[in-house]
Amino acid sequence: MLFLRNSLTILLPLPAWVLASDFRVKESTEPPRGWTRLAEAPSAHTISLRIALPQADFAELERRIYQVSDPGHELYGQHLSKEQVEALVSPRPTSLEAVNAWLKDHGFEEKDFDRSAAKDWVNINVPVALAEKMLGTKYHTWRHDESGDRLVRTTSYSLPAHLHEHIELIQPTTMFARWSAMKTTIHWPELVEDSSPSFAGSASGNRLAIKVASTDVDPSCNQTITISCLKQLYKIGDYVPKSPRKTSIGITGYLEEFANLADLQSFYNDQVKPAVNSSFKFVSVKGGLNNQTLSEAGAEANLDVQFAFGLSFPIPGTFWSTAGRPPFIPDLTTPTNTNEPYLDWVDFVLRQKEVPHSISTSYGEPEQTVPRKYAERVCHELAQLAARGVSLMYSSGDGGVGDGSEDPADHLCFTNDGKNTHRFMPTFPATCPFVTAVGGTNDVPETAVFFSGGGFSDYFKRPFYQDRAVGKFLENTPSDLYQGLYNRAGRGFPDVAAQGRRFRIWWRGRAVSIGGTSASAPVFAAIVALLNDVRVSKGLPPLGFLNPLLYLIGPLGFNDITQGNNPGCGTPGFNATVGWDPITGLGTPDFSKLKALVSGH
Ligand SMILES: *[C@@H]1O[C@H](CO)[C@@H](O)[C@H](O)[C@H]1NC(C)=O
Ligand SMILES: *[C@@H]1O[C@H](CO)[C@@H](O)[C@H](O)[C@H]1NC(C)=O
Ligand SMILES: *[C@@H]1O[C@H](CO)[C@@H](O)[C@H](O)[C@H]1NC(C)=O
Ligand SMILES: *[C@@H]1O[C@H](CO)[C@@H](O)[C@H](O)[C@H]1NC(C)=O
Repeated sequence: MLFLRNSLTILLPLPAWVLASDFRVKESTEPPRGWTRLAEAPSAHTISLRIALPQADFAELERRIYQVSDPGHELYGQHLSKEQVEALVSPRPTSLEAVNAWLKDHGFEEKDFDRSAAKDWVNINVPVALAEKMLGTKYHTWRHDESGDRLVRTTSYSLPAHLHEHIELIQPTTMFARWSAMKTTIHWPELVEDSSPSFAGSASGNRLAIKVASTDVDPSCNQTITISCLKQLYKIGDYVPKSPRKTSIGITGYLEEFANLADLQSFYNDQVKPAVNSSFKFVSVKGGLNNQTLSEAGAEANLDVQFAFGLSFPIPGTFWSTAGRPPFIPDLTTPTNTNEPYLDWVDFVLRQKEVPHSISTSYGEPEQTVPRKYAERVCHELAQLAARGVSLMYSSGDGGVGDGSEDPADHLCFTNDGKNTHRFMPTFPATCPFVTAVGGTNDVPETAVFFSGGGFSDYFKRPFYQDRAVGKFLENTPSDLYQGLYNRAGRGFPDVAAQGRRFRIWWRGRAVSIGGTSASAPVFAAIVALLNDVRVSKGLPPLGFLNPLLYLIGPLGFNDITQGNNPGCGTPGFNATVGWDPITGLGTPDFSKLKALVSGH
């Protein structure tokens, strides 16, 4: 498939009422690669507009996050409350008033507004004709050439000049991120039916154990990853959570990925006998479904839930199912929410008083498919969870330094900024500096897995906690190597890694083998949940935002991975090296060492 760039920018004459007012362009974008603009959007089509008001004091929130997550600071572990976080990010009264007045001018009343917990977002349902008037724009229907998906979008919108300082962004306008393309970072070629009749879980028979550092690992783990393998590899041993009711773990699900309860029981029966008959809490977000028909079981959801909850059992688990994109019906007047879903989930979770302390997300997409302002704002929403003591894990992606497209020529490793430059494709939200990005390894002893997503963000600058570790990697990487392909000043990712191949899960009634950094993130999240248990059972607060601590610990708590590389975009990618590298980060966790390190204070 050839991706022809839609390079025809048609300059339309602006409607008279735009010219008559003091409208100024707020945001504009190039027509996105791979999309074709069709007809004008039907004027009665109703869209669900999300309006972001500037957060009054995000800089202070950031300062507080770094205090409470710095083990050397006297406030370490003193996570902020929901109310404290909201007080810092709620908009200034002048912004609220200006936006209210504007919306009232267009006929909206308070009862029409759906506001986020901190009031920093206002959501309203608006017919296209009115949205066009409010935003000085023209919406069109756009078709994604490859999938045929349709969206109502524009490449530019405006706001009256006086509102610019009171509104950060409005979507859906310029965002062409495709829900259905949002990669579940499953490495599908790994999905093969397990036909080995002699599979015996952890039983090693008479084969010799593989020596890894000072431990023995069952040789079967070099072919199949089970809960038992992970406990051996990461030295969890027979640790049993001591205060399982005081901490919890969560898994996010999107795209109609349902975590099947019958499959979970088969998995527990196979690999985690004590967990048989236990379950998790299901939470629907924005109408997210939970179809338990076996043929509807999602491989991604099953993988995440089975390994996260199986490894951290009996710590209670939550699974959120966030609704997928509704089908595009052009003359539909009931509102359609075609925003991308991370925001729906985080908006929902930020409204909750209690949030699980360790949360894993195995979804992501190339950073550039999300408008920069939007990505920054979503990252600031995730920061609010970090401030409240939540550790957020995200898969680093399955395309190496590329975007994971199955297309061997990697046509998509080009920028979308109109310049069409060859460029590595970092994965969002893994590049947000307030989350912990998890890359992948394989084999025993472990090496970096070739598909492990990694590199440097084009949107987020390197956070200070990475200066030493990432600085050292860059010192040893000549700047003329891959010149122009990545941003040396950007946030490096991943932060850490865990096994990402040949996981034995249960799916639609049978055992299958599956892989991806999709597997790595829930494994790491489970280990964080166990570490939180270590802490809360000693009366200490949960770990919260992890990265400053992880970069301080480095080799004291991680197995450094030094073999392998992550090809993509027609290059061999980066090399795993001594110390941090953009394939496996600091390495894979050593629970026994980390447990001792986090027990202190
Ligand atoms: C593990 O598997 C890899 C590749 O599948 C192989 O190269 C390696 O020798 C195996 N390791 C051991 C200790 O058997
Ligand atoms: C699980 O529940 C079933 C049905 O209630 C029961 O027959 C079985 O003994 C239980 N198994 C365990 C291990 O508790
Ligand atoms: C669940 O999925 C099955 C199979 O696709 C379908 O027949 C059934 O109607 C669905 N159930 C619900 C409650 O949506
Ligand atoms: C990776 O290692 C190979 C072999 O040592 C070397 O030729 C190559 O330049 C390295 N790549 C990077 C990105 O450092």
